[in-house]
Amino acid sequence: MRHSEVLIDRAFEIGATDPRLFGAFVEHLGRSVYGGIYEPGHKTADPAGYRQDVLALIRELGPTIVRYPGGNFVSGYNWEDGVGPVAQRPRRLDLAWMSAEPNSFGTNEFIDWCRLAGIEPMLAVNLGTRGAEAAGRLVEYCNHPAGTAMSDLRRSHGWEQPHAVKFWCLGNEMDAPWQIGAKTADEYGRLATEAAKVMRWVDPTVELAACGSCGRNMPNFGRWEDVVLEHCFDEVEWISLHTYLNDYAGDTAAFLASADTVDHFIEEVIAVADSVAARRRSRKRIKLSLDEWNVWYRTRRPRATRVKPGWPVAPDILQEIYTMKDALAFGGMVIALLNHADRVRAACLAQLVNVLAPIMTETGGPAWRQTIFWPFAHMTRFGRGTVLRALVHCETYSAVYHDPLGPVDVPVELPAVSYLKLAAVHDDGGVTLFMLNRDLEGPIRMQATLRGFGPLRVADALTLHDADLEAINHRDAPDRIRPVALDGVEQNADGLRVLLPPASWSVIRLVALPRG
Ligand code: AHR
Repeated sequence: MRHSEVLIDRAFEIGATDPRLFGAFVEHLGRSVYGGIYEPGHKTADPAGYRQDVLALIRELGPTIVRYPGGNFVSGYNWEDGVGPVAQRPRRLDLAWMSAEPNSFGTNEFIDWCRLAGIEPMLAVNLGTRGAEAAGRLVEYCNHPAGTAMSDLRRSHGWEQPHAVKFWCLGNEMDAPWQIGAKTADEYGRLATEAAKVMRWVDPTVELAACGSCGRNMPNFGRWEDVVLEHCFDEVEWISLHTYLNDYAGDTAAFLASADTVDHFIEEVIAVADSVAARRRSRKRIKLSLDEWNVWYRTRRPRATRVKPGWPVAPDILQEIYTMKDALAFGGMVIALLNHADRVRAACLAQLVNVLAPIMTETGGPAWRQTIFWPFAHMTRFGRGTVLRALVHCETYSAVYHDPLGPVDVPVELPAVSYLKLAAVHDDGGVTLFMLNRDLEGPIRMQATLRGFGPLRVADALTLHDADLEAINHRDAPDRIRPVALDGVEQNADGLRVLLPPASWSVIRLVALPRG
């Protein structure tokens, strides 16, 4: 058995978690919209076609902001196709996912769904095939009250009040070779600047996110952010990051270690953004929007897993089935996000329903939770507050993680991976610990010293753990993997003594007791 000493002091603050840290993503991709959140005729659908069984699971999951409509899809999207009378909307070829897009769901339906779900909308504009004018008109359509062509068009479509969308993404993954209308950093930096100017002139209250590189493994990563921000530093508040972990190598230890690359990635983007600020002698700090993050590999390669022939509507693509092992790597990403709450102020789990999703549905049938549902739900439920810088002493291991870029292997050396990965979040009611035990063979005996909190009582102690790391949830066994009580939590004079099961994700919530 391994041992770990952890020190958590109330005074060592990283920063408060922004509510937008708990976001997700709905793209026109596969069965994310059609057959996912929207399925007219389903027995739980309301008159607008929104599945209420899915909505109930989404409420339980707790995302606060949802990005829409893409993703790769947005880079070929005409937003005008998705508004107005449904019968008159065109059916288009979607060249991002090689499917047919019926456009029966569009911006207004998405906004209505967000209002119903109590979720903030995050909209992306198309900077692949379109530009500043179309982006400005979409902002006018959504946010201008009345009396202009676009705002009156919205009103004529039945939405009298403006949608008041605050958070806007300036395109998607514009350096990616697979992106429709991909650009060089200079081309994109210029375009993002001009689009941002127009969008903000239409509505000065918007917040704008420039695209970072589509991945840390891209040869131009770092340089891309530098050049793009050189162009648009003054026009944007945010830079985006995207990251998907994989276990192509079938090396579980390295897969779980790869969660640390999320920490490194975030810190590298901060370094580049702040170097742009330093060159300008600016105190402005660009915020990070990790607006696509997840585990994704089984349905990523080969291309046949992403493309179905015959231009189908809502094909069953990217329906990644998540295992226990995936939930652990995912939990490691949650911890990395929390530990950078000072600069990562928004993040979107990619995605929400059916596509790379915590929630799966059967068309006409039930909806259920995948394994990754649980660490995310724990984060949204317990992660609100101030993240504290925990000192973790634990044995380490070394791993080589493979993050291939097409046919090119990109090995990442991880020489000192702590078996225990941990985040601590403090709020007025107490403190919560999030823990990933990456030791596949044995438990970790953890002693956590808790300083400056006053008397505490353990209110919740949960663990996600299964001897079979390949175990999954599915339609007929939806609760195969679910959190259970974490036994063996002892409070002592210094804080807590806990036995963390091998290969487990655990959460302990301590509530403050009245002093005296
Ligand atoms: O989330 C799936 C896809 O991954 C998105 O459309 C794209 O932005 C990324 O490459």
